[in-house]
Amino acid sequence: MMSLHIHLASLLLLLSPLPQILSGQESFKKAAYKLSKPLISDDGKVYLCSEKNFFAFESNGSVAWTLSLSYKCSPKDRVLKINPLNVGSSELAVELFFGSEYERLGDIIGLAVSISSSCVLINVKNRGLFAYRLQGKLYWSVGPLLYQHGYRQGCRKNITECYFSSVPVFDHCEASIYISNNQGEIYSLSTRSPHFKWIQDFSSFGSTLTMKAGNNGLLYVTVAAKALILAVDVSRGSILWQKSFGQLSMGDYAPAVDSNGWISIGSLDGYLYSFSPKGVLKKFPKVLNMDSVIQVSPVLDCSGYAIYVSQTQIEGKITQIIGDYTYISAMKSKGVIFTLINPATGIIFWSEQYPGLFSSEFLRSDLQHFLLDESVLLTFFAASSTGNRLPCRSSRKILSEVCIKLLTDYTRKFQHLHREQEDNFAVSDL
Ligand SMILES: *[C@@H]1O[C@H](CO)[C@@H](O)[C@H](O)[C@H]1NC(C)=O
Ligand SMILES: *[C@@H]1O[C@H](CO)[C@@H](O)[C@H](O)[C@H]1NC(C)=O
Repeated sequence: MMSLHIHLASLLLLLSPLPQILSGQESFKKAAYKLSKPLISDDGKVYLCSEKNFFAFESNGSVAWTLSLSYKCSPKDRVLKINPLNVGSSELAVELFFGSEYERLGDIIGLAVSISSSCVLINVKNRGLFAYRLQGKLYWSVGPLLYQHGYRQGCRKNITECYFSSVPVFDHCEASIYISNNQGEIYSLSTRSPHFKWIQDFSSFGSTLTMKAGNNGLLYVTVAAKALILAVDVSRGSILWQKSFGQLSMGDYAPAVDSNGWISIGSLDGYLYSFSPKGVLKKFPKVLNMDSVIQVSPVLDCSGYAIYVSQTQIEGKITQIIGDYTYISAMKSKGVIFTLINPATGIIFWSEQYPGLFSSEFLRSDLQHFLLDESVLLTFFAASSTGNRLPCRSSRKILSEVCIKLLTDYTRKFQHLHREQEDNFAVSDL
């Protein structure tokens, strides 16, 4: 299930169906507006869309400004560009970045934005991957069937029914893009031109692969149906390790990768599974002695080192396995616990049962007019740095630091190899 995505460039808005409000939400205040999946900007503002309205919130939950759009947030065939600086001025605040006012150009499967390389990627079903400059100029485009050095690459199983089927993913440290097709092949492309670095066949794991760049020399691939996580070496596309975790929520299972390179994913078994870059698992327990589920994605804090997690306490959990998937039904929510945790150290900085001190504050703010779900509240905790003792860093700073660390590690490895070679020569000289 897709949800609405807002990306920070100026602000790029991919219009897509609203996320379903999950069953655990009865306890939250019923209100007029359902909200999309939110986005936090570096200045702590939270951006959300609802119906034909776009909202910018302060991190304390008060509305900073709103824009009415000419389109509903629901169709998934246009990308809008919003310039916050022009809101309230005579300049144009909203423009159509991709798509047409009059016709459908095709379903947009995914959107990704890189500010550092001034690049916007748009995957349009059956049409291919389009790379635009942030200013709106087409940079390059590519289909899943690639010819390089005279050989056909990609779509090895079936040429006619082959298309890019995933959200494109930037690797900021490698200047690479990852995307998969409907036949379970993953492509690594260069950001600058549509030349591929490698194409690997992951079809033995299934054809629905969710990718997340570690920006640490690894690409993490989640196979939701098999509850598997793969760590892929970005230089060759080979699998370094593969681990299992508990069953996932169908809607919102996107894992979070922190600045230590740990990848964390919440499961319907109530545990948070965190894996180190080497594949070491830390499983964080359910709170209290109760049945619980994690049904929304963790949200990274502003330091990049810790994550906000929500666990829903439930009673009457009925688990049903149909095919590869586990369905949980007849679930009655009893409450929610929010936690801020550093996966690498295992330290819990903050925890609160809903409605607690901090969530009540949000419920008194402008947010009381909206239908809140766990993922919106997690975002506001992250934006306002609730319970956090680590200093905030801009997303640009976080990325540049992880890339510098990766480069230092590479250099050290290279020097080490070089020294070993020299030692070998010295021995053979004797
Ligand atoms: C929320 O934050 C904004 C901007 O910092 C401020 O102007 C406003 O007074 C705050 N609202 C409340 C209720 O604290
Ligand atoms: C490719 O898929 C289509 C539709 O599923 C099918 O009609 C066609 O025969 C397939 N081609 C090959 C070479 O398998």
